[in-house]
Amino acid sequence: MAKTPSFTCSACGARFSKWSGRCDNCGEWNTIAEEMPLSAGPALKSLGSRRGRAMELSDLGTEEAPPPRTTSGLDELDRVLGGGLVPASAILVGGDPGIGKSTLLLQAAAEFARKGLKTVYVSGEEASAQVRMRAARLGLTDAPVQLAAETNLRDILTTLETERPALAIIDSIQTMWADNVESAPGSVSQVRAAAHELTSFAKRIGVSVVLVGHVTKEGQIAGPRVVEHMVDTVLYFEGERGHQFRILRAVKNRFGPADEIGVFEMTGSGLTEVKNPSALFLSERGNPSPGSAVFAGIEGTRPVLVEFQALVAPSPHAQPRRTVVGWDGGRLAMILAVLEARCGIPFTGLDVYLNVAGGMKISDPAADLAVAAALLSAREDAALPADTVVFGEISLSGALRAVSQTENRLKEAQKLGFTSAILPRGGKTAANEGMKLTQMSDLSVFVGEIFGA
Ligand code: TYD
Ligand code: MG
Repeated sequence: MAKTPSFTCSACGARFSKWSGRCDNCGEWNTIAEEMPLSAGPALKSLGSRRGRAMELSDLGTEEAPPPRTTSGLDELDRVLGGGLVPASAILVGGDPGIGKSTLLLQAAAEFARKGLKTVYVSGEEASAQVRMRAARLGLTDAPVQLAAETNLRDILTTLETERPALAIIDSIQTMWADNVESAPGSVSQVRAAAHELTSFAKRIGVSVVLVGHVTKEGQIAGPRVVEHMVDTVLYFEGERGHQFRILRAVKNRFGPADEIGVFEMTGSGLTEVKNPSALFLSERGNPSPGSAVFAGIEGTRPVLVEFQALVAPSPHAQPRRTVVGWDGGRLAMILAVLEARCGIPFTGLDVYLNVAGGMKISDPAADLAVAAALLSAREDAALPADTVVFGEISLSGALRAVSQTENRLKEAQKLGFTSAILPRGGKTAANEGMKLTQMSDLSVFVGEIFGA
């Protein structure tokens, strides 16, 4: 039977029967590439009743405790993993080229190895000597990590079979190739085949694997999105060029909370942990200025303080600009609409720019009120008090909704020297003595009290 090609989007994994410039499913451009099916043999038949038997949940046995997690000692990493590395788990670490994935994983490999976990670091991008040079720069040459520079999947599986490590790091999945797949390394078929082989092999012999994946939009190299479904945990390593800090974010985790973040700083001798990210994000804050509001947010399970900066200016354009960095543009439009419809404050004819200082991306819904505060402060040219944090969700009616973890947000603010907070009514605040709390139930009350409008 002749093999018929199919076309797959490297960004979202959708399949098509013909090529097109834009993926109908996710809307990305130039991400669709041809791939050949693995094999076109006869359809699979059942092997009879002895194989693939299902069992009762209660039969799985309760007396056997799950094997313990191993911690690396890098708290920022361990927390994002959900409290350490789970044995025989598959993890994908994605990120832009040059962001620091290899650095992070070499450091992690060294720490796990020092904890007694047998660790193999397979590099398909650099020769062993180069990896060793990097290790020297990071001060890790004494760590008992085994290095291999290989790209052929068969060789790697053989290495894993003979070495039987507890942890294998594959850097990167785009450089691996399986010789039974007829396409170039980095293509969707190769990436998918290599990821499938590695994860299923690792599960079978009880090895944890970390797959490194570059995220690029150029279609040339397949994005690791197609791999996300195959692994237990997906971590993204993010950061802005020109900023030193990097964020490791769990976007999927079978063994821990998603959305958890770890914060690192890239230095001349590798990545160092940032134990107090709020201090880092607020470090560049100068004197109180109009358009600035400090938001007491929660990222994953930890409180993080960041500064929202807004600029509102008369627009020379027929269609005023709405530019937002680090937050959701749709949400900004909603806040502007609520301010206009419920509080009578129009932004027509005004350009609006919103930015999260430091390049952090915020997804916490409690940011609404901080954004509204920054926008109003910019529009009225009146600075908010410097010692105040703001948080709360805004509904379409203009009501302020209580948000999760009020106490923790306030505690973090207090720790960083803030003495007052503006927040919605409701939510537990018992443990926040010494903090001046201004609690409100409606956005129009906020506008009246804070800006006298
Ligand atoms: P790298 O880990 O190679 O990125 P990736 O594997 O994601 O492509 O990191 C490359 C960048 O990090 C490079 O620009 C140099 C910088 N870097 C440091 O600033 N300090 C260091 O100690 C190391 C090893 C790298
Ligand atoms: Mg690398």
